[in-house]
Amino acid sequence: MSAVVVEAKDLRKTYPVRRSMFRAPAQLQAVGGVSFTLEEGRTLAVVGESGCGKSTLARMVALIEPPTQGSLVLDGTDAVQTPASERKRLRRAVQMVFQNPYGSLNPRKKIGAVLEAPLAINTDMKPAERAERARAMLAQVGLRPEFANRYPHMFSGGQRQRIAIARALMAGPKLVVADEPVSALDVSIQAQVLNLLADLQQEFRLAYLFISHDLAVVRHIAHDVLVMYLGHVMEQGPKAKIYAQPLHPYTHALLASTPGLAARGRPRIVLQGELPSPLHPPAGCVFSTRCPYAQDLCRRERPLPRALDERLVACHFADDFLRKGFPEESLADNAQLAGRAGSLEGVSP
Ligand SMILES: Nc1ncnc2c1ncn2[C@@H]1O[C@H](COP(=O)(O)OP(=O)(O)OP(=O)(O)O)[C@@H](O)[C@H]1O
Ligand SMILES: [Mg+2]
Repeated sequence: MSAVVVEAKDLRKTYPVRRSMFRAPAQLQAVGGVSFTLEEGRTLAVVGESGCGKSTLARMVALIEPPTQGSLVLDGTDAVQTPASERKRLRRAVQMVFQNPYGSLNPRKKIGAVLEAPLAINTDMKPAERAERARAMLAQVGLRPEFANRYPHMFSGGQRQRIAIARALMAGPKLVVADEPVSALDVSIQAQVLNLLADLQQEFRLAYLFISHDLAVVRHIAHDVLVMYLGHVMEQGPKAKIYAQPLHPYTHALLASTPGLAARGRPRIVLQGELPSPLHPPAGCVFSTRCPYAQDLCRRERPLPRALDERLVACHFADDFLRKGFPEESLADNAQLAGRAGSLEGVSP
C-alpha cells in the first residue's frame, strides 16, 4: 500500500473583506469545505474557473496560510497545530511551483546559488558537495549542468520553469503543490514540462497537487480530479471516470467547452449567466443560477458531495444523469444520427 502524504478534511478559508471604513467587514468564503487524500506517486488536479478557490486551497496545503477551519495532516503530522520544531521539517516536505517562474527567481542570483540555498540552510554539506548536487539536479530536469553559472534572464520560459521545479526538488519534498505551472507556456513547451513532471514523480515517488483551469492539461497529468465552483466541490474522483462520464452538470459543461475533449458527439456548451459574487453566493446549490437543469429543490437545498459511481458528486440529480446522461448529449446523438454532425461548431474530431 502506498503512503498517504496529504489528508485534508473539510478545509475552509474565509477572508474578511472591508467595503467601507464604517461597515463591519463582510466574510468572503474562498474555500467552503474541501476534503481529499493524496498518496505518494499520485497527482490530484484541482480544476475550475477563475476565482473558484484553487489558489487559496493550494496555499493552505502548501502551509503558506492557515485554514480558517478543518484539518490537514501532511506526511503524518498535523499541519494546523504543529509545534515550531516540526514546522521546519514540514515546510521542507511540501514545496511550491508557481505559474510565473521569473517572478519567483531572484534576477541577481546565479541558478547554482538558487538551487544550493535549501542545502545551505538545512544541511551541513560542504560547498563543493552542494554545487555538485545542484549540477546533478539541473541534469535531472533536462538542463545542462553548466547553466548553474548563469542568471535567470538568460533562460526561456520553459527552461525557467524547469529551474523552478529543480529548486522545489532540492529540499527533498514529498509533496509538490503546482499552481498553474504550465499556463504561461506555449503548448509545445507545456507538453515537455508535463512529461518532465511525470518522470520526476516516478523517480521520487512525489505526490502532486496540481492546480489548473485547463482540462486538456489535467488529462495528461492527473490520477484524480477535484472540480470546484465558488469554493465548493462539485465532483471529485478518478480522472478516468470523470472524463469518460461526468455526473455533475458543471463538470459536464467544463469538459464540453474544452477543445479536444468535446469529442464523441458532446456539443460545445457555453455556460449562461455571470459567475455569482463569492460575497453573495446563491442559496441552495451554488451552481444553480447557471445550471440548465436546476429545479426548485436546487435553489432551496445545497447538495452535499455523496458517493456515486466510484466518485463524489454534489448534485441532487446526479443519479438521473448517471442513468440517462445529459439531455444535450441525446440531442447531439440525434443530430449525428440525422447526419447533421457538421453543425456542431467547435467540436474537435
Ligand atoms: N487574500 C485575500 N483576501 C480576500 N479575498 C481573497 C484573498 N485571496 C483570494 N480571495 C478571494 O477568494 C476567491 C478565490 O480566489 P483564488 O485566488 O483562490 O481563486 P483561483 O481559483 O485560484 O482563481 P484564478 O484561476 O483566477 O487563479 C476569490 O473570490 C478571491 O477574490
Ligand atoms: Mg489562482
